[in-house]
Amino acid sequence: MFYEPALGNHGLPHNPLKALVAPRPIGWISTVSPEGKPNLAPYSFFNIVSESPDIVMFSSAGLKDTVRNAMATGEFVCNLATRDLIDEVNITSTPLPSGENEFELAGLAQAPCRLIRPPRVAISPCSLECVWIDTVEMTDRRGQRAGYHVTYGEIIGIHIDDRFIEAGRVCTEKLQPLSRAGYFDYAWIDAVTSVPRPR
Ligand SMILES: Cc1cc2nc3c(=O)[nH]c(=O)nc-3n(C[C@H](O)[C@H](O)[C@H](O)COP(=O)(O)O)c2cc1C
Repeated sequence: MFYEPALGNHGLPHNPLKALVAPRPIGWISTVSPEGKPNLAPYSFFNIVSESPDIVMFSSAGLKDTVRNAMATGEFVCNLATRDLIDEVNITSTPLPSGENEFELAGLAQAPCRLIRPPRVAISPCSLECVWIDTVEMTDRRGQRAGYHVTYGEIIGIHIDDRFIEAGRVCTEKLQPLSRAGYFDYAWIDAVTSVPRPR
């Protein structure tokens, strides 16, 4: 089949795009409001875009609490979502009123960050402490506003649970990072293979 996204002529019951760009890593992002109230939500429009400096991005459909808080306070944390936390990840996507705490809703303990104010997810094996750089509203190719706000942040501190470091390497198959596929589907990594680059 072939279709043109702008025409929406895929003929399927649901837009297949997110099943085609899959799996997507999940940034499980914690912030605080300007009043200091914690907030937590998953974002699968998420990735790193640079290494040294280490820069992450996430994209919000509209100005959700996470992006508002990140812009207002200049800080956010990307916690690693893992297979065993699938239910908690899902629960924290509940659209609570601003200022209500998704950590509490999902029964998740908070742990302090070292360098920034938002708490991290205590049980998550990895957390990236980030300082906000910029939030850019996407436009389409004709310059029309897309309604998606992409936030960039620099990672200034990284927590890794030592249990997942083996022979000097982070053991991905033990971490079992959770990712998002299309529709309501999730996937996780439980096997990896190493292929040296050609010289
Ligand atoms: C696995 C998963 C991934 C999600 N990814 C995104 C995303 O990339 N962008 C977005 O705007 N919403 C995404 N959502 C929905 C938000 O998590 C949801 O709207 C949440 O209530 C936003 O919370 P906030 O207002 O506290 O930021 C996702 C939901 C789930 C379950």
